[in-house]
Amino acid sequence: MATDVALDIGTSHTRLATAQRGLIFNEPTLVAIDTNSGDVVEVGHGALDMVGRTPRHVVVFRPLAQGATVDFDVTARLISGLFDRAGVSKLSRARVVMSVPSLATAIERRALRQAAIQAGAREVSLIEAPIAAAIGLGLPVQDPVGSAVTVLGAGASEAALISLGGIVTSSARRIGGNDIDNAIATLLRLRHGVVVAPLTIEMLKIHLSSALERTRGAMEVVSGRTVDRGELVEVDVSAELVNAALHDVVTTTVRMIQDCLGDAPPDLSQDVSSRGLSLVGSHAQLNDFAELIAANTGVDVTVAPNPDIIVIDGLQMCLEEMSSLHTLLRSADR
Ligand SMILES: Nc1ncnc2c1ncn2[C@@H]1O[C@H](COP(=O)(O)OP(=O)(O)OP(=O)(O)O)[C@@H](O)[C@H]1O
Ligand SMILES: [Mg+2]
Repeated sequence: MATDVALDIGTSHTRLATAQRGLIFNEPTLVAIDTNSGDVVEVGHGALDMVGRTPRHVVVFRPLAQGATVDFDVTARLISGLFDRAGVSKLSRARVVMSVPSLATAIERRALRQAAIQAGAREVSLIEAPIAAAIGLGLPVQDPVGSAVTVLGAGASEAALISLGGIVTSSARRIGGNDIDNAIATLLRLRHGVVVAPLTIEMLKIHLSSALERTRGAMEVVSGRTVDRGELVEVDVSAELVNAALHDVVTTTVRMIQDCLGDAPPDLSQDVSSRGLSLVGSHAQLNDFAELIAANTGVDVTVAPNPDIIVIDGLQMCLEEMSSLHTLLRSADR
């Protein structure tokens, strides 16, 4: 029997759901490949555990950056590894619904589609992430009413105003939570002369950040290696450093949302004023981000519960619709 698969390949995390089993994969976008045989050794958490511990012939790849595929072949292998994990056999020729950032170029969209086909998919439908998010949130996307959604991920941020089944205005940037982590790493090197592990940097961001600088005075001790001698040392990291690192991303995101809402026709603007704006994506959880966006747009802003899985929820709903349409179509196909 054919398996239908919903797939959201993000810069930091990948989610996979099937119509039959729901969400079955929500792990880092990493794939470990045996470079001798080309075989996939591990995907997701398994590949993350291998970072820094692999023999020479195994390499851990992160095939996406800023929301786009940077390595077509590795992306195809990742998808193939995901299909294996999900029990989707190559022979089942799966129908796949995938999200794509609204700012993806035609070449990036083609690369994603081809990667899924190379991995064994029979048919691939691409849906722009803000539309999938609005569907996942249960918003009335087909109605003549404006629904405002902003997807904040690791490498891409996009705001869209949706009505009558399509995007009316949108604005997107190739920035996200990862850029904050990179900026924290740079400041730690410059100010403290240390290199700190990526997961520790993310933890500093989650604990010490505030888009409204409410964490002023807070500190956390972390260990790292000195840039010059590679010695293991402990450093006190201040919230001030973390908040300095998030400034550019936060300001650009607020401007992006203002651009999107500013382009809206008056009736839809009114809908947004009365119905508010939903934030999805894990990066939307940055402390006080929603409050800052609300203050700068004059609109009520809410972070969706479980913001990391809203897009995949929407894709899964599309799958279910597709299956029922196929059943309808087949019922007349005698
Ligand atoms: N509690 C939190 N506070 C702030 N940031 C967070 C929190 N939890 C996760 N993040 C950040 O959210 C980002 C990941 O978001 P998400 O999983 O939605 O991205 P993605 O789908 O992989 O990427 P993209 O859609 O941009 O390609 C990372 O940068 C991560 O550090
Ligand atoms: Mg995403």
